[in-house]
Amino acid sequence: MSDRIHTLSGYFYEYQKSVTEPENFWARIADSFHWKKRWDKVLKWDFEGPNVQWFVNGKLNITENIFEKNLFAYGDRTAIIWESNDPNEEGRKISYRELYHMVCQFSNALKAKGIQKGDRVIIYMPMIPEAAVAMLACARIGAIHSVVFAGFSSTALADRINDCEAKAILTSDGNFRGNKKIDVKSVVDEALEKSSVETVIVCKRTGQEVMMEDGRDFWWHDVIEGKDDMNVATEVDSEDPLFILYTSGSTGKPKGVVHTTAGYMVYTKYSFENVFQYSPGDIYWCTADIGWITGHSYIVYGPLLAGATTLMFEGVPTYPDPSRFWQIIEKYKVNQFYTAPTAIRALMSYGTDPIDPYNLDSLKVLGSVGEPINEEAWRWYYTHIGQSRCPIVDTWWQTETGGILVSPIAGITPTKPAFATLPLPGIQLAIVDPDGNELTGNSVEGNLCVRFPWPSMIRTTWGDHDRCKQTYFSTYKGMYFTGDGVKRDHDGYYRILGRVDDVINVSGHRMGTAEVENAINEHPLVIESAVVGYPHDVKGQGIYAYVICDMSHRTEENLVNEIKDTVSKIIGPIAKPDKIQIVPGLPKTRSGKIMRRILRKVAEGSTDNMGDTSTLLDPEVVNQIIAGRK
Ligand code: WTA
Repeated sequence: MSDRIHTLSGYFYEYQKSVTEPENFWARIADSFHWKKRWDKVLKWDFEGPNVQWFVNGKLNITENIFEKNLFAYGDRTAIIWESNDPNEEGRKISYRELYHMVCQFSNALKAKGIQKGDRVIIYMPMIPEAAVAMLACARIGAIHSVVFAGFSSTALADRINDCEAKAILTSDGNFRGNKKIDVKSVVDEALEKSSVETVIVCKRTGQEVMMEDGRDFWWHDVIEGKDDMNVATEVDSEDPLFILYTSGSTGKPKGVVHTTAGYMVYTKYSFENVFQYSPGDIYWCTADIGWITGHSYIVYGPLLAGATTLMFEGVPTYPDPSRFWQIIEKYKVNQFYTAPTAIRALMSYGTDPIDPYNLDSLKVLGSVGEPINEEAWRWYYTHIGQSRCPIVDTWWQTETGGILVSPIAGITPTKPAFATLPLPGIQLAIVDPDGNELTGNSVEGNLCVRFPWPSMIRTTWGDHDRCKQTYFSTYKGMYFTGDGVKRDHDGYYRILGRVDDVINVSGHRMGTAEVENAINEHPLVIESAVVGYPHDVKGQGIYAYVICDMSHRTEENLVNEIKDTVSKIIGPIAKPDKIQIVPGLPKTRSGKIMRRILRKVAEGSTDNMGDTSTLLDPEVVNQIIAGRK
């Protein structure tokens, strides 16, 4: 607990130490973990390669730091509280000791199926405790997990299986979400027509009928049958990959962000304990899905490393009605609640009636993540959920950063609506202008970079190191470029302004415009398309697609619906465009480049001043696009 920040001056002291003596700073924190062999050197790095190594030559297993290290101290403490999609189904409470045995037993089952250290294992599962068991069992044997959000389509799943050459898939029969029963295993079956794995392990959740291929597909309950519920954790190197998580970027193909073991372990625990000011016995709830980085770092690894009780919810905020979140907070006396602005905005629209019947007095800290939180949503969250007494931690970070980089320390850093406030210890930010000149001092606005490594940062993109270099380390020399715009105000506080690249953030989900365009273009009647984001009241950003089509075979309405279905099939329902406008042409320069600036303006409805359009091949097309705006 000595790593806990308790006061504002403590924060400044720690921050200063982390900058002047970074190696000593992180060594002190890493010393509280269990190492099979201590590291030789804390940090080796250059951002040219990039080549970043933390706790060099250290040997460990992250699950020993969750279990063996602590079982005698708090084996009986609840590790996971699971709340079903159905409020009438009894939840589950799993202690650290029980979870340890589940993880050991399942990791023994994986070994028996021939899964070894370094093998890639895809996890395509709903929000059930076995999904966390699956992740931890992989980590226990040194296999690299790659969780794919269970809402992604079979095509998206197949792409990921192929990219990381997965040996096995861990999945379920189906998934309960709201009033829907969603097929899961059949999506895996479809994906495996375009890819292959040796083993599929299926956890029974919905009990629906599924196809089981002989010799390839096995039931979870069968593979653990008779397996020992103890084992020795496999020794891995500090820099051995812990997991790959695919995320969208500016180009069409999602990239596999690689996180390694020791640095990720140290940073997720440290940031979790400090940002949320977690104390033993508190009930902590993060509403993310384990398919996203937030679920990895702040449902599973960070909280479990810190000995926290982490709540896992299978369902959705509006089922059976929009009071479900508040019901759950009352039911379990949740102390820290961490959700996304899109959920807050959606729930705001129901007013305070769904909240009033529930006792939210247990709450101590509220968190926000995934996209900029607008002031109105911030104030509503603060007043109605936090009863004007709970600090909000607006946490800025990314799949690539592994953990929270900019955030208030709950109850310690004075907050300001819509500001992520200040960097955590160890995080050295820089704001640069488009030419790469650093903007020093306060009251500046530019692109957000990080100039010094932190333990949980991305190491590479799977199978393509150059892509990692090009995407993050080439735009501004010697710095990690986040892709976000930022403002540092007169108080030195950071406010994230959103993406400055071709990534859009829809309900907190990252989507590459090129990725959506590629999916649209799969429709046989589509000739060309261009996708941009536009402001959306609930989702933060919506997807607006301009599409050139062969119109001779369909009505416009049918075509629009078919295009939406195509995108759903290729990526998943989350990528479905909100608006599709069929256009006669796209605003292109003479060199054939689409002027997205114009398309963004039309999509957001600011069509009075289109700026300079003289370099366009056909300026008239702009008027046609404005006239047909959706
Ligand atoms: C955005 C999610 C403003 C940002 C953890 C970032 C935010 C992208 C915030 C990463 C925040 C995340 N305020 N914007 N508090 N948190 N973002 O990889 O644009 O799914 O680059 O990681 O979400 O999304 P990702």
